Amino acid sequence: MTESAEAQIISPVRPTSERDTIQGTSDRQPNFVRKIIPKRWWGRGVKNSNAERQSANEVQKNNYFAECVQGSPELWGEVGQRVLDLHTKVFGDIYADNNSSLKTKSLLKEDAESLEVDLSSSDTTVVLLHDSATNEIVGFTYAYPLNSKPLTEQVEQKAANTFGDAAYAEMRNASTEVGITLIDEAHRGKGGWTKMMNELDKHVLGKYRYMVRCVRRADNYSKKVQARYTGEGSPGTIIYKDKLNSVSGPQDYFIVRLPEK
Ligand SMILES: CC(C)(COP(=O)(O)OP(=O)(O)OC[C@H]1O[C@@H](n2cnc3c(N)ncnc32)[C@H](O)[C@@H]1OP(=O)(O)O)[C@@H](O)C(=O)NCCC(=O)NCCS
Repeated sequence: MTESAEAQIISPVRPTSERDTIQGTSDRQPNFVRKIIPKRWWGRGVKNSNAERQSANEVQKNNYFAECVQGSPELWGEVGQRVLDLHTKVFGDIYADNNSSLKTKSLLKEDAESLEVDLSSSDTTVVLLHDSATNEIVGFTYAYPLNSKPLTEQVEQKAANTFGDAAYAEMRNASTEVGITLIDEAHRGKGGWTKMMNELDKHVLGKYRYMVRCVRRADNYSKKVQARYTGEGSPGTIIYKDKLNSVSGPQDYFIVRLPEK
């Protein structure tokens, strides 16, 4: 892709305040939750060809639902401890596989601080995966404006060299980045990830032109993410790829161009 071709597709991101106007689509709206936190968007996933894919675990998929929530201090107060418990359980093991125990401790602490900041911010779109039977949170993902974070030198300088500094600065301004994504081990492989991603896509569509993803190669995760953005009906197109070594092991870095709403 040439610099000038890429620059042509850049359009400014809509102001943050407009995000509050997003409407939920789901019929599942437990009243007790809505009373606690007003800015919740409930959904069962976008009806596109990815979401509609049939699979052997279709029945199990109905056992989970994804809830989209705007970040806020109240949200953190309500779900923060559960999010931290899940994160420590899942990323404690991942970090321990790639780092010393001292480093693992400090990485978990750093992440805990970031999670609190990110999930408390009204700029963050949070998706919580619930077990339908118990309503328990069993996974989460979230997305924030890329320009709310400092430059990730390792990969972003290369991207800026590829697209050109000015074009990349514009892209960065119109980008959202997906933060920590996880599902409790007992609830994996049951369609929850696709539900969360569909819900996230639905709520970032129209606000951002690009989605940045930094994903682990382990367990074929990067392949799953790439497959999501490949082929007809995919909710975006990968326009740039790179690799990096991270504290959670080797990762792939993608910039996904999102469709116009
Ligand atoms: C990453 C994580 C959230 C994924 O959740 P999961 O339930 O294990 O995901 P699945 O294995 O069901 O895969 C998700 C989808 O990709 C599809 N998929 C799996 N392997 C695939 C492949 N090689 N190519 C294409 N699609 C693939 C699956 O069919 C599934 O689709 P479906 O939801 O429509 O059934 C979970 O494994 C996790 O928490 N891992 C630990 C934390 C982590 O690594 N987080 C990511 C950090 S970057």
